[in-house]
Amino acid sequence: MSPRQEIVAGPRTMDPVADPIEAAEEVNLRPRRLTEFVGQAQVVEHLEIVLEAARRRSQPVDHLLFAGPPGLGKTTLAGIVAAEMGVGLRVTSGPALVRAGDLAAILNDLQDGDVLFIDEIHRLGRAVEEILYPAMEDFQLDIVIGKGPTARSIRLDLPRFTLVGATTRTGLITGPLRDRFGLVARLDYYGPGDLEAIVARAARILDVRLDPSGAEEISHRSRGTPRIANRLLRRVRDFAEVRGDGVVTRQAASEGLRLFGVDELGLDKVDRAVLAAVCQRFGGGPVGLTTLAVSVGEEPDTVEDVYEPFLLQLGLLMRTPRGRVATPAAWRHLGLAPPPVETTSSLFE
Ligand SMILES: Nc1ncnc2c1ncn2[C@@H]1O[C@H](COP(=O)(O)OP(=O)(O)OP(=O)(O)O)[C@@H](O)[C@H]1O
Ligand SMILES: [Mg+2]
Repeated sequence: MSPRQEIVAGPRTMDPVADPIEAAEEVNLRPRRLTEFVGQAQVVEHLEIVLEAARRRSQPVDHLLFAGPPGLGKTTLAGIVAAEMGVGLRVTSGPALVRAGDLAAILNDLQDGDVLFIDEIHRLGRAVEEILYPAMEDFQLDIVIGKGPTARSIRLDLPRFTLVGATTRTGLITGPLRDRFGLVARLDYYGPGDLEAIVARAARILDVRLDPSGAEEISHRSRGTPRIANRLLRRVRDFAEVRGDGVVTRQAASEGLRLFGVDELGLDKVDRAVLAAVCQRFGGGPVGLTTLAVSVGEEPDTVEDVYEPFLLQLGLLMRTPRGRVATPAAWRHLGLAPPPVETTSSLFE
């Protein structure tokens, strides 16, 4: 991928790829160059320009922030930026940088032009974030030596690096941090056409025999998310190998996905549990995030970052000032009769 690539600190807590073999496959599926990156046309165009301009000026790329729900390609893009620029990539994450010194050590160890990728950058502690400001702006590091009255602050020059931040929550990034990025790119859910191309590409890499109808079926159930599309492809491949002739057709895809609990909208067990809790346990809502999370046995952060955005996007769930509310479509999706209209509308008064 790049001359030097190194994982500095801890793997992602929310990484859904737990199986080591699948994790390795996932790495192989990761596009290395911008031309291999499917979809997100506007983000790609912006990046092409920013990277080309930096190349012409022989300067490091300006700091970049990628925002969007999990699995849409933020980490992938960070790797692509480093590969396209032919520089090293160091990877860390907000929660892994506990003390200011953790970040200072990493910064100090960078080489000119390197990309430093900080995943979940919205979870940086305040003290850590504060040393990032002068580092981003002036490539300087302020460190305090000693304690108490004899403490003094010294300033170190840092190599000119590119910070690439990723966040699932732009809303939680502080203003001063956000303002220090030269480009903030929002990744959106992928359309079915792009997902079909992603699944077809993955099938080529994994040597899976995939019929176009199978690709279409998988793409429609992938929640607009490449990581999920790739995962569903692997499950359907298993199914087709064990129960069929190994070819991923529409029929194999739909039977396989039904078996693995992924419905026609691409919702899985937890998604349906969230909807069922709102509809059945809380009478359609409104219900607060924490209460909802507890009732499905997930962390509030996970519900908010992983499950809710797609349910909102599908129009199954709504956020109101008083909490989450199920729409009539959610009731129908669960095969339940929606409550009379008056009850639903009175929630918004
Ligand atoms: N545009 C794309 N084209 C092809 N494959 C993609 C694309 N975006 C993502 N992928 C695939 O999806 C997988 C997940 O992407 P990635 O890890 O970059 O997501 P992420 O946004 O960093 O997610 P998280 O927020 O969970 O860290 C990648 O391994 C890659 O195989
Ligand atoms: Mg990532």
